Amino acid sequence: MNQTTEVLSKSAASSLLERGFSRRHLGRIATLLTAGAGLPFYNEFAMAQTAETPVRGSRDAGIPYDPTMIRISSNENPMGPHPAGLEALTKVAPRGWRYNPGPEMGNLAQTISKIEGVPLDHIWTTPGSSEPLHAATCAFTSPTRSWTMAAPGYGSRAPAFIGSKVVGVPLAADHSHDVEAMLKSQPNAGAYYICNPNNPTATITPREKIDWLLARKPKDSVVVVDEAYIHFSPNAKMCSDLVAAGKDVVVLRTFSKIYGMAGLRAGFAMGRPDLLAKMRVYGSSGMTIVTGVACANASLLVPDLVPTRRKQMMDIRDDTFSFLDKKGVQHLPSEGNFFMMSVKGMTGAQIGQAMTTHKVQLAGNRWPEWPQHIRVTVGTAEEMGKFQEALTRVIG
Ligand SMILES: Cc1ncc(COP(=O)(O)O)c(C=O)c1O
Repeated sequence: MNQTTEVLSKSAASSLLERGFSRRHLGRIATLLTAGAGLPFYNEFAMAQTAETPVRGSRDAGIPYDPTMIRISSNENPMGPHPAGLEALTKVAPRGWRYNPGPEMGNLAQTISKIEGVPLDHIWTTPGSSEPLHAATCAFTSPTRSWTMAAPGYGSRAPAFIGSKVVGVPLAADHSHDVEAMLKSQPNAGAYYICNPNNPTATITPREKIDWLLARKPKDSVVVVDEAYIHFSPNAKMCSDLVAAGKDVVVLRTFSKIYGMAGLRAGFAMGRPDLLAKMRVYGSSGMTIVTGVACANASLLVPDLVPTRRKQMMDIRDDTFSFLDKKGVQHLPSEGNFFMMSVKGMTGAQIGQAMTTHKVQLAGNRWPEWPQHIRVTVGTAEEMGKFQEALTRVIG
């Protein structure tokens, strides 16, 4: 408990105890904060590492990666960082000996503020969006006030790990979040989590449904909208205006997806200052990574980046879908840089294993609600060509 009280502020510790967390749970949260980055092992990267370990070796054990494996398992974007971002990154890197070399952090927040129409004090820049996602679970949920999310969905492991109640509510028939069922099932949730587009289904939830939930949720709960993939969707509506309007909403964004910067670590949360203050307590040191920050800022300033990359990805995805349709492989319509598919007579895990033997790594076996499905990330045209060859072999 000594370590716990040193790591967690007094007010954070008493807030957690008041919400019904046990001292053992506090210890777990404290241990994770001591590690310096919230709950870093509950993100796509960590899950992919786990999935890859048997075939690709563990990064911790120093077993070398297999460079011939096509990795389309973590919803990364092979377009990579934009050249304008790389130029900014290269410029700032030599000054990386300072914690805060210059105006980079402020510049990023200013750019976000302008683009999103949200005041500066409503923005928290972070090394990726896993950190604010985990902080939101610590700030708003408890053993009695749940983290209510879609099933299948993303983001259940962190609240489960800290001892919060986690409730997954099946998606509606159109694969949007069933907000009515979410509210009915958990009328007193601490947080309603809407992943839009949803991971792993790449399906979207219309804005009216989010408005409906906001109008009816309990006064002291929060709607967390995770917009990690929103730039890939021509139809999903962003929720920054709800933040600007002072609603009980936290919006999460990352530069890991359309901006192609997963390994460079940049993201942000938008929310009312009182909501962000509750979350920041559970963030790491508050430091961002200056190379990632500079790259993110410069990328945001490229006017046609989003539509150009979206179209490029959609062309490859459409081509893949034509192939799947010809082969009679079922897949969901997608509004992201990934999609779910199922092969008759095989479970998702079996498809994953078979594809791995043909050197294509997919994200299988992670959504017990949908055992027949497997998630595929849209890679380069060349990678998707190899995916097609491997799947043709697998389905004979
Ligand atoms: C839905 C969703 N939210 C958040 C994240 C966190 O991404 P990062 O920590 O790389 O910003 C991911 C990563 O894949 C994701 O899929």
